[in-house]
Amino acid sequence: MAEPFEPFRKDLLAGKTTLITGGGSGLGRSMALRMAGLGARVAVVGRRQEPLVETVEAIRKAGGAAASATCDVRDPEAVAKALDTVEGELGPVNQLINNAAGNFLSASEDLSPNAFNSVVQIVLYGTFHATREVGRRLIERKQKGEILAIVTSYVYSGSAFVLPSAAVKAGVLAMMRSLATEWAVYGIRTNAIAPGPFPTEGAFSRLMPGSELEKQALRRVPGKRFGEHWELTNLVAYTMSDASPYQTGDLVTIDGGEALFSGQQFAGFAHLDRASAKEMMAALKPKK
Ligand code: HXC
Ligand code: NAP
Repeated sequence: MAEPFEPFRKDLLAGKTTLITGGGSGLGRSMALRMAGLGARVAVVGRRQEPLVETVEAIRKAGGAAASATCDVRDPEAVAKALDTVEGELGPVNQLINNAAGNFLSASEDLSPNAFNSVVQIVLYGTFHATREVGRRLIERKQKGEILAIVTSYVYSGSAFVLPSAAVKAGVLAMMRSLATEWAVYGIRTNAIAPGPFPTEGAFSRLMPGSELEKQALRRVPGKRFGEHWELTNLVAYTMSDASPYQTGDLVTIDGGEALFSGQQFAGFAHLDRASAKEMMAALKPKK
């Protein structure tokens, strides 16, 4: 367990009005609370009203400004309407975090076209709809802004048994990188963050069923622990702030070294007792 660390000025995000898709639960909720705590006005959207209302109440209780609207990001008109609603309460949105996602475990040959489509619609189309809507409003108003997409650490490699997610997260990364050059002229920065495993009910109930899979996942992290939400939200806050105006088209991985570990042939040695590992390596050294 890592102790929360406060590196920022309390007004780091003053002047920012941030729309977070899927901001009512999991990592999105943690981002919403953290950003509001640093002075951003925060709007959360998702399909279920209850978690959105709860998140807004938690932000307001802590002294922040927040609003919510229900929408399914698969529906471009619903996204525009939700944006109208929250802008009516908070003023013009100048930041977007594409966080909403759908994912589940399945052998790829067993996926129905509709199962594939549901993840493609939420992640790829949902990101496009929200990004286009926020982007065109920023351009129209001649306002600068920041857009972030939460992808995953398998965005480069792909991943077995989550094929729809792997395919669309790569697409979302390409979207952010394409816009980094296209929208730089408007002062809009677009970036992506790739988390490794961070416990949430939504992800872990679908992707880590049973303690055995969770144990296996832990073994792939060199530090043998999952990420804590504050570690991710610090990175998100920095990326979305004016502390990083030159950062665009970037992908930052935050996974405790998990992706590297998985790709390194001899990484398993790091899990052996170090004295025994050294003894084994010394035994292989030619004698003089
Ligand atoms: C196979 C499945 C399935 C499963 C649903 N389907 N779940 N197929 N295995 N586990 C199929 C259904 O049978 C249906 O196809 C189609 O998918 C659509 O299902 P619906 O239930 O109608 O979809 P919908 O209500 O739109 O829900 C979308 C969802 C759901 C993606 C299926 O899981 C959801 O709402 N997820 C949101 C939250 C989420 O997934 N969070 C995890 C994010 S974690 P048919 O053919 O029968 O009609 C993440 C990265 C984690 O992204 C990285 C590592 C830890
Ligand atoms: P989560 O708890 O399941 O949250 C997903 C959120 O997205 C929910 O609030 C959900 O709300 C919303 N959502 C889903 N479908 C939607 C739709 N069609 N329209 C609008 N909102 C929708 O998942 P999480 O673990 O916090 O993940 C958040 C992000 O981090 C995702 O992009 C995920 O891919 C990424 N990520 C997570 C992990 C991890 O270990 N947790 C690792 C890597 C990447 P409703 O259901 O109410 O709509």
